[in-house]
Amino acid sequence: MSFIDWPGELRIGVAELDREHEQLVRIINDLHDVASSAQHGRDVAGVLLDLVRHTREHFQHEEAFMARCAYSAAAEHAREHGELLVIFSHLLGAMSAEKARLDPDTLEYIRRWLCSHIENSDAALARFALRDKGITAGDAPGVAEMSRTGAWPRRIP
Ligand SMILES: [Fe+2]
Ligand SMILES: [Fe+2]
Repeated sequence: MSFIDWPGELRIGVAELDREHEQLVRIINDLHDVASSAQHGRDVAGVLLDLVRHTREHFQHEEAFMARCAYSAAAEHAREHGELLVIFSHLLGAMSAEKARLDPDTLEYIRRWLCSHIENSDAALARFALRDKGITAGDAPGVAEMSRTGAWPRRIP
């Protein structure tokens, strides 16, 4: 059994956000695997860097999506994103490539943060987008594509 099961309760119905969440889950499961193995120094630092990079990109995409939706809770949602990024930068600052350690409590905190954020805040955003903006799960455009073109998806009759 994985550290985090995908999709479990985590699918929100906006295709590209779901794909990015799945990728974050995969990386956190990798992080759990390397942190649990005996010889993990360099691997932990490398996987954590990967997680931070993908998390930053995902938050940027999601915040662009919120702006497109004129989402009323966007500021609070973005503040939650900022909290995790602060924690990540503390973790990165505390580990060198040679002496990387990630204790089980920290991993559990990351797991809980991500699952709770997706199940609550991201799901609320998806409900808003799907209900008020007429985006459907099958029709939702790539968020990166929306950011690039500024195009709204067509509304499904
Ligand atoms: Fe989010
Ligand atoms: Fe998200």
